[in-house]
Formats: sequence, C-alpha cells, structure tokens
Amino acid sequence: MKKVKIALLGLGNVGRGVYNILIKNKEEIMKRSGYEIEVSKILVRSLDKYRGVEVSNDILTTNFDDIINDDSIKIVVEVMGGIEPAKEYILRAIEKNKHIVTANKMLLATEGKEVFEKADEKKVMFQYEASVAGGIPIINSINENLTANKINELYGIVNGTTNYILSKMELEGLEFDDVLEEAKEKGYAEADPTSDIEGYDAQYKLAILSALSFGTKISVDDVYREGITKIKPIDMKYASDFNMSIKLLAIAKENNGELELRVHPTMIPETHPLANVYDSFNAIFINGNAVGDLMFYGKGAGDMPTGSAVVSDIISILRKNIDTKNENPVVKDNLWNKNVKSIDDVESRYYIRLTVQDKPGVLGQITTIFGSNRVSLKSVIQKGRKHDDTLEVTLVLITHKTKEALINDSIDKLHDLRSIKSVENIIRIEDFS
Ligand code: NAP
Ligand code: HSE
Repeated sequence: MKKVKIALLGLGNVGRGVYNILIKNKEEIMKRSGYEIEVSKILVRSLDKYRGVEVSNDILTTNFDDIINDDSIKIVVEVMGGIEPAKEYILRAIEKNKHIVTANKMLLATEGKEVFEKADEKKVMFQYEASVAGGIPIINSINENLTANKINELYGIVNGTTNYILSKMELEGLEFDDVLEEAKEKGYAEADPTSDIEGYDAQYKLAILSALSFGTKISVDDVYREGITKIKPIDMKYASDFNMSIKLLAIAKENNGELELRVHPTMIPETHPLANVYDSFNAIFINGNAVGDLMFYGKGAGDMPTGSAVVSDIISILRKNIDTKNENPVVKDNLWNKNVKSIDDVESRYYIRLTVQDKPGVLGQITTIFGSNRVSLKSVIQKGRKHDDTLEVTLVLITHKTKEALINDSIDKLHDLRSIKSVENIIRIEDFS
C-alpha cells in the first residue's frame, strides 16, 4: 500500500471530524483511494486546548513553516476558516505544489479568484465540496454530474442555524429572540450569530453555487441579501393560514441570459419539498433542462457530515496522480459573462403586513397607492383590532407578481399616510412557476 502524508490547518469542529473519519473508515479509505493516509502535521492556535479527539502532541504545531517546508506533505486541508491567514497559507501551499482541500466558503466567495487562478497556474488540485451545505455533495454534482444540463433555477436552504430557528418558530410558535438564545445554549448557533441570521453565510454559499451553476464570475455583492431577524410568530401564523411556510431561501435563476441572485426569507407553498426541510437540515433544489427537478437533502454542518465532504475531496485527489501536474482546470466560473439583475428588477409576489388605523377610507387610500403604481392586489386580510383605544389593526396584503421597484415605491408612499402606523414586514412569495 502506498503512503501519503497530509496536513490539516485547524482542528476545530471540521478538523476533528476529518481526523476521526480518517481513523474510523481507515480501511474503506485505503481501498478506495489506494493510499494509507497519514496526518503528519496539524496547525492550531493553542497546543493546550482540550479538543475531544486523541491526537498525539507531536503532530500539533502552531508554526505553519513546519508544514510548508515539509516536502513529504502532499495535501493541505484548510479547515481553519476566515480570510487571513487561511488565504496566505493556501497560496503558499499551492506555490509549493501541494494539493488543496478547503471548507472555507467565506474565502472562496470573497477572494476565490486569486486562489483558483494560482491553483490553475501551478496545476495543483483544489477541492472545496464542504464549502457549501456541509455533507451534501452539491459542488461535485454541479461540477461533474450535471454538466450536460443548462441549469435554469436553484433554490437552497443552505444555512442550518436559520432553518433551525425558523422551524422552531413555525412548529412551536416561539419568538425569534427566544429560539436564538436556546440555539446558542445548545451550540447550534454561534456566540456571534450575525453571519447566519443576517444571511451572510447563505450569501457566500449562493455566490459559490451560482458561479458554478451558471459558469460565470459572481461577486458576493451580486447576491442580494436579507436575514431572518424581522420574522415574527404572526408572520408564521399568516403563512400557515395561506398554506405556506417561511424559509431563508437562496435563489438563483437564469432568464434570457440574465441572472437573479438573492437570499431572503421567502414564503413557499407547504406542498413544495423544501417546505418540509426542518431543523438544521439543508436542501438544494435544482432544475436542469435535461434532468428536470432534483433535490439534495442532508446535514449542512457538524463535524462528521462536513468531515465526510472533506475526506471525500482528499480521496478524489488521491485517485488522480498526485505527483504529476494536472491539466484539470479548477476554475469553472469563467465560461460565460452573465449580467446579474438589480433586485429592483426582480419580479415576485409579496406578503405585506401593516399596522394601520381602523378608520373609514384607510383601505381605499392604501389600495389607491398600490393601484397607481400598477401593483395588483390578490387579497387583503384584516382580522380584529389590536387595541380598541388606538384603533390599530393588522392589515395583510398579498400582491400578484410585480416588480420589486414598484413595491418599494408603493411602500415609500404608504409611509406618508398618517393612517399607516407601521410597515411591519414584507416577505417575498415564491411559487416555483
Ligand atoms: P473552528 O471550530 O473554529 O476551528 C478552527 C480551527 O482552526 C481551530 O482548531 C483553530 O485552532 C484553528 N485556527 C484558526 N485560526 C488559526 C490560526 N490563525 N492559526 C492556527 N490555527 C488556527 O471552525 P470550524 O467550525 O471547524 O470551521 C472550519 C471551516 O469549515 C470554516 O471555514 C467553516 O466555514 C467551514 N465549515 C464549517 C462547518 C461546520 O459545521 N462547523 C460546515 C461547513 C464548513 P485552536 O483550536 O487552537 O483555536
Ligand atoms: N453556520 C453554518 C450553518 C455552518 O448554520 O449552516 C456551516 O456552514
């Protein structure tokens, strides 16, 4: 049996999973890769930390030079996260002809161009399956198995933390803040959950998926982003009344060569398979013009599911010839130049929840504003007053499909009406049609 040395950069959640899988499935991995894999160095910040995994202290290091200067290390597995020093370490490892596996969506979505180009230039293999949706094999499916298709649409629940929070709100009627606290206590949400709850994590993942799906360069800023912090139990209740569910959806569509890329809370029919993706699970629903509809479902995070994707990437590198220069191009996002639509030009149906004064003529004023902006209302729902003394009442409007710019203009005009107390929430509705 041939032997190969690899190094891990990081021994946190994902690093631990990778290390454990390499031990647990050693025989399967040897047979499938043709190599006995030795983790010969692991870069960490602290040598004393308890890590819940038995690793000899001899292989832990805080000095990246121990890895970069060791020519016997053929593959560097970056599972430390963040932009720097991860980017610098990856670039230096590529320069030394080491193959790379990374789980780092933030780095790939924001600074990916430089590392991909460097890997292309040096002809080293570069794998990043774990960077989107953890254990779900979505990157290689798009890059390999779906290349016969023109991908028309992709819808993803790609953030487990927000899906856990929305699931709890939907199924147990809980407030956002209460579920977030509980999720932090249970370790589902990070101490600083901003990247998850404000949609940045999903934005990075959609930037990566859409660049590969549509074969074009995508900047993170091309992806419109909204988080889930404004969702209230009352929105969940209305969604349920309409036979809908609210999910943080990452949406990518191509129409006539133009792309629509957005991450935001979305009402979807409860009959759609994505509506039944609960808890911290992830799912990606894709439509290809040959294969039709596909859905990938599984765990988008966690040490073993994410480790599964990372170790598979290591095996796929070992199955090629690791000692010769590889001609396989790692950059697959430069096949076409596609324009990304402004969110103002996106068309959708909308759920709009207002607090208004329950007085004669108010409904007429509101519908006149939408009508004059060519926004057609499908339904208007008013259920009982909130407070009799203030005359406040909740009004929910559902629009027909319309341009976002027309909705925004209508909302601006609503703000000028004295009878409108507050525009409480606006949620896009996706009909998948
Ligand atoms: P983590 O638990 O915070 O672990 C990070 C590890 O990297 C730690 O061992 C840390 O060392 C080490 N590290 C960080 N900065 C370092 C530095 N400057 N020098 C040396 N070592 C450093 O992170 P994680 O959850 O495993 O995530 C790792 C990567 O996988 C991220 O890119 C993340 O986005 C991605 N990812 C994570 C998941 C998941 O389920 N967690 C899923 C998919 C993708 P110490 O232990 O000494 O502090
Ligand atoms: N924070 C991410 C999530 C982890 O909640 O899905 C994996 O990217």
